[in-house]
Amino acid sequence: MPNDVSRRDLAKLAGLAAMGAAAGPAHAEEAAVTDDAGRRFPSDFVWGTATSSYQIEGGATADGRGPSIWDVFTHTPGKIEDGSTGDVACDHYDRYKHDVRLIKELGCRAYRFSIAWPRLFPDGGLTPNPKGLDFYSRLVDELLANGIEPYATLYHWDLPQALQDRVGGWRSAETAAAFAHYAGYVAQTLSDRVKTIFTINECGRFIPFGYGLGIDAPGLKLPQQEVNQARHHVALAHGLAVQAIRAKGRAGTRVGMAENITACLPAIDTPENIRAAEIATREMNAGFLNVILEGRYTDAFLAWSGKDAPTFTADELKTISTPVDFVGLNIYAPQAYVVASERAPGFDVLPMPSSFPHMSSPWLLVGPETAYWVPKLAAKIWNLKTIYITENGTSSDDKVTADGKVHDLDRVMYLRNYLAQLQRATSEGVPVKGYFLWSLMDNFEWVFGYKQRFGVYHVDFDTQLRTPKLSASYYRHVITRNAVSA
Ligand code: BGC
Repeated sequence: MPNDVSRRDLAKLAGLAAMGAAAGPAHAEEAAVTDDAGRRFPSDFVWGTATSSYQIEGGATADGRGPSIWDVFTHTPGKIEDGSTGDVACDHYDRYKHDVRLIKELGCRAYRFSIAWPRLFPDGGLTPNPKGLDFYSRLVDELLANGIEPYATLYHWDLPQALQDRVGGWRSAETAAAFAHYAGYVAQTLSDRVKTIFTINECGRFIPFGYGLGIDAPGLKLPQQEVNQARHHVALAHGLAVQAIRAKGRAGTRVGMAENITACLPAIDTPENIRAAEIATREMNAGFLNVILEGRYTDAFLAWSGKDAPTFTADELKTISTPVDFVGLNIYAPQAYVVASERAPGFDVLPMPSSFPHMSSPWLLVGPETAYWVPKLAAKIWNLKTIYITENGTSSDDKVTADGKVHDLDRVMYLRNYLAQLQRATSEGVPVKGYFLWSLMDNFEWVFGYKQRFGVYHVDFDTQLRTPKLSASYYRHVITRNAVSA
């Protein structure tokens, strides 16, 4: 388009401005409501939203909370793009009652939050801080009083700094043992009301980014063998925690993990490419999901890692693969489009063109079919019976406009397309039981600080005012009808 002709000029020339004014939204709405039969989710589908402790809570030193590795990292100059920290974040620690109302207004019947380990065990040791627990106990009560089921995550990256200092964090199996103690304590104290617990969130992010690339806390750049060893300790922590939760929790407490599975999709859905995508999914998730669900590191992973492979014992593999009740999958960008290959193990990853469309975060490539293929392939490979989409969502360059609203049409577009593909999966019987939109409200987006906004509620970080975006209305509409809105 020539620079001097704007889209508005073109619309005028085409007479579209007048048309826009004439279109009757009420009629469009009615039509959509009556013909959604083919776009419904299962009747017991769980609709929720998700957040994490460091990203929203603030209250960094409140009621005896100890420092986490993210407190130390964000206070180190140069680590966070906008120089910000999570000291205050969304001030959820003080405003949780209001935030629970926001969840309720979306129509969600489930909320996935994370517990800050250093609130419960400020020095990463064995002595609990009852005041820290009390916050989560009050939050859980508030959720239940509002008809919202709590889904708790134990580790969303805020490791007690004391454990980093004392034993090197996930470099040591001692951290796995400390995690199991913490998990058992949470099960013992909260499982009367919290029935679903996620152990670890996104090992696939915090290990490479935190221990290999130095981008996330604790900011280490270790050799590959040590990165693999740290990942092994996280897997071990997961397995030990599953056992501790079963030992200390009420009967019926369900436990699993929430992983940013490396999303491998067939480039074109021929039977050969679908098979290749299955192989790729298993191999590219060999270091965490596969070892948990299969109880062994794959031959290709061990061969490929060579001298950098983690050291492990048969007993550890047994612990790691303690059966789980469900698998949580965080789904954002497609990561590998694959085709069949004669070369072992049987797939080639195609190069991603630089013009592949993405959302406002450059890493967030738009591949709605990720929400179809990923749970479908995972269910097949690991014979899963219960899957939750534990995160899905997008950032957007949201602005509050003069009318006091946020018209995040790009997020609505993204959700509509991903949810349509997820519905396609459930309609084929893929056992996805629920969906947690990331995120309830704008929050501290790690190394990007507050510059990337993922919420369906806009947060003004100066006043802490929450404003529902258009996507909040969209999501409410989906939930009310239990169907994808076209
Ligand atoms: C993480 C969240 C993060 C989101 C968007 C996931 O990787 O679990 O903490 O905010 O993606 O980047």
